[in-house]
Amino acid sequence: MPVLTTERLRLDELTDDDLEDVAAVLGDPEVMRFYPAPLDRAGAQRWITRNRERYAELGFGLWAVRTHDGAFLGDCGLTVQHVGGRDEVEVGYHLRTAAQGHGYATEAARASVALAHERGIERVTAIVDADNLPSQRVALRTGLQLERVLDHAGRTTHLYATGAAAECASRVARGGR
Ligand SMILES: CC(C)(COP(=O)(O)OP(=O)(O)OC[C@H]1O[C@@H](n2cnc3c(N)ncnc32)[C@H](O)[C@@H]1OP(=O)(O)O)[C@@H](O)C(=O)NCCC(=O)NCCS
Repeated sequence: MPVLTTERLRLDELTDDDLEDVAAVLGDPEVMRFYPAPLDRAGAQRWITRNRERYAELGFGLWAVRTHDGAFLGDCGLTVQHVGGRDEVEVGYHLRTAAQGHGYATEAARASVALAHERGIERVTAIVDADNLPSQRVALRTGLQLERVLDHAGRTTHLYATGAAAECASRVARGGR
């Protein structure tokens, strides 16, 4: 049973059987150019294990993104990240390079955010490097808005959030506090 189904995609919990595919995507320097380093095979295995712990602890994590006929495209889903001094639910996505440019990340991210809302999680963020323009475009197309720019892990980072405009407006109404 997939966790989520969209028009073109299915999102499934990752298992150890996905190691080859995950290692290929997260071992690609191009996909990982905004991360400290690409993951080696052991790193990819730890990453799958970490997401399986998230499914058990939180009921969500990053899931495998596949076409309906089973082709592995990458991952997308929800995690909790500490950013700007607080824990935030973040929608994340990584696609193998050949799968980019088809709208798959946006389709998967929209479904992930909708699932978060269904589960009562109102606020979903995306924490994106200031230079990562493709990811910023995914965040915007997913309906998130730029809330603020901050330093995160030593990098200038954009924090996108659902409802950011409303939050901004209420901050203005409160006199900027
Ligand atoms: C971030 C990332 C997932 C974005 O991938 P992407 O393919 O650009 O995003 P989408 O899958 O939503 O595809 C959108 C693009 O496909 C195009 N497209 C083509 N056919 C489409 C269709 N049928 N439907 C929708 N969009 C389509 C869109 O025009 C858009 O192009 P544009 O951004 O140049 O305007 C990808 O760059 C990536 O994996 N990067 C490395 C990992 C990473 O940095 N992750 C984010 C960390 S914060």
